[in-house]
Amino acid sequence: MNNETVDPGRVPYRTLYSGARMPAIGLGTFGSDHAAPDEIAEAVKGAAAVGYRHFDCASVYGNEDRIGAVLREIVAGGIPREQLWIASKLWNDKHGAGDVIASCRQSLADLRLDYLDMYLVHWPFPNFHPPHCDVGSRSPNAKPYIHENFMKTWRQMEKLVTLGLARHIGTSNMTIPKLDLLLRDARIRPAVNEMELHPHFQQRELFEYVRDRGIAPVGYCPIGSPARPERDRTPDDTVDIEDPVIVDIAARLRVHPAVVCVKWAVQRGQTPIPFSTKRRNYLANLRATVTEPLAAADMQRIAGIDRNCRLIKGQVFLWKQEQSWEDLWDLDGVIAS
Ligand SMILES: NC(=O)c1ccc[n+]([C@@H]2O[C@H](COP(=O)([O-])OP(=O)(O)OC[C@H]3O[C@@H](n4cnc5c(N)ncnc54)[C@H](OP(=O)(O)O)[C@@H]3O)[C@@H](O)[C@H]2O)c1
Repeated sequence: MNNETVDPGRVPYRTLYSGARMPAIGLGTFGSDHAAPDEIAEAVKGAAAVGYRHFDCASVYGNEDRIGAVLREIVAGGIPREQLWIASKLWNDKHGAGDVIASCRQSLADLRLDYLDMYLVHWPFPNFHPPHCDVGSRSPNAKPYIHENFMKTWRQMEKLVTLGLARHIGTSNMTIPKLDLLLRDARIRPAVNEMELHPHFQQRELFEYVRDRGIAPVGYCPIGSPARPERDRTPDDTVDIEDPVIVDIAARLRVHPAVVCVKWAVQRGQTPIPFSTKRRNYLANLRATVTEPLAAADMQRIAGIDRNCRLIKGQVFLWKQEQSWEDLWDLDGVIAS
């Protein structure tokens, strides 16, 4: 291995219940309101060149068209489509009858693809809010999770698989009680659940729950999203890459603390999707998956620094005034209504 690229064949993978192999690290593509679509598309191109094969996209990120132009170049440049793993997501205002298939087709057209490897329901709430809106913004039409309605959306997700538009379908931002209902009623089960996962937010219970049921956890904000938008920050938030344990391990290994977060994630069994537009950083994250693993003692130390610090609280999806964001996450095991 040279230090400038990573052989994709050496990157660990997760075998999904279908038998498909998903690379155990992907590149995130959400620009957090500051990275421009062309900059992110350029990062996708550079990341493919250094050995990434998995890309986490979403219609709401507003850059699938730019990424699609690059994906076409990547395939034309000799990386076969079957070696890529492309995920996209259904946005919250497209849960209605007929909207799911149309939205997936739009993402496919933008991404210049015939099929997606993974299509996720981005949030289990059909609540529209304008891009970049303030954290206090509430939609007058916002609704709580209504399982009957979610199943109508999920039936359309299942249809995407039968139509061959998506090879797998999955969920994101779900909770155990919501997944209990979905797993009871689904004809096609989710193959992954995308969820916030980083050393200060380990979500042990949900992590074990999905793994026990053959659902692969995909971890977003794996580095603790240090550049997330202002609206996603609160004074109590903690900073993973400044945690003394992470900093100490990083200093010993002579890597950036971000790399320790990525190593921990892959070794623990989730699939992190770190974002970066800087070649040095996205290459370091990919290399983290093929270089010497963290020692068991370091894994244990990191297991001990969970702060239960959720960064993406989802306030804009609330459906009542005077409601707390905790209601989105069913903390007492009951779906909030
Ligand atoms: N399903 C969902 O609801 C959901 C929610 C949030 C995010 N996501 C997905 O998860 C992805 C990742 O989350 P995120 O972007 O919020 O946070 P993140 O990946 O935890 O953090 C990204 C930040 O870390 C920096 N970074 C990355 N690698 C680094 C390295 N090796 N050394 C130093 N700094 C490094 C990047 O800066 P530079 O660019 O300067 O390197 C960037 O500012 C998103 O892009 C998106 O695809 C999904």
